[in-house]
Amino acid sequence: MKISIATDHGGFDLKNHLLKVISSSGYEVLDKGAHTFDPNDDYPDFAKLVAKSIQKGETTKGIIICGSGVGASITATKFKGVRAAICHDTYSAAQGVEHDDMNVLCLGARVIKISLAVKIVRKFLEAQFDSDTRFVRRLNKVIEIEKSQLG
Ligand code: RB5
Repeated sequence: MKISIATDHGGFDLKNHLLKVISSSGYEVLDKGAHTFDPNDDYPDFAKLVAKSIQKGETTKGIIICGSGVGASITATKFKGVRAAICHDTYSAAQGVEHDDMNVLCLGARVIKISLAVKIVRKFLEAQFDSDTRFVRRLNKVIEIEKSQLG
């Protein structure tokens, strides 16, 4: 599975750590930046690169980091086909994929420790959508809302 990852300055160190963890776990990972630490950079510039990568099918799951995870998720959810959420616990990271087909995980590097972030990312990457009728029905309702709101 191919993964994309990006961060602003708020998650620079966390992204570098996760890059190593993810690639050593056998996933192919595309680093969408930031490639240098710039305390004045802006999260939408990086969040959009992961969202676009998911949208065009270049990668199947994405991870976006910022200080809180809030800006990352606000940006990512503007993109049709992207189902992004902040998960700061392992339960939501797995269930978000299994029940809701979440394809982008947002993390706040100033909120959780690196060790917890690694556990959350592992659960997110290992989880698969459960195609039980009720989950598909709910997902289709979300897609209908997306169509009416995002065109
Ligand atoms: C950057 O300092 C910070 O505001 C940003 O990373 C993020 O937390 C926004 O949601």
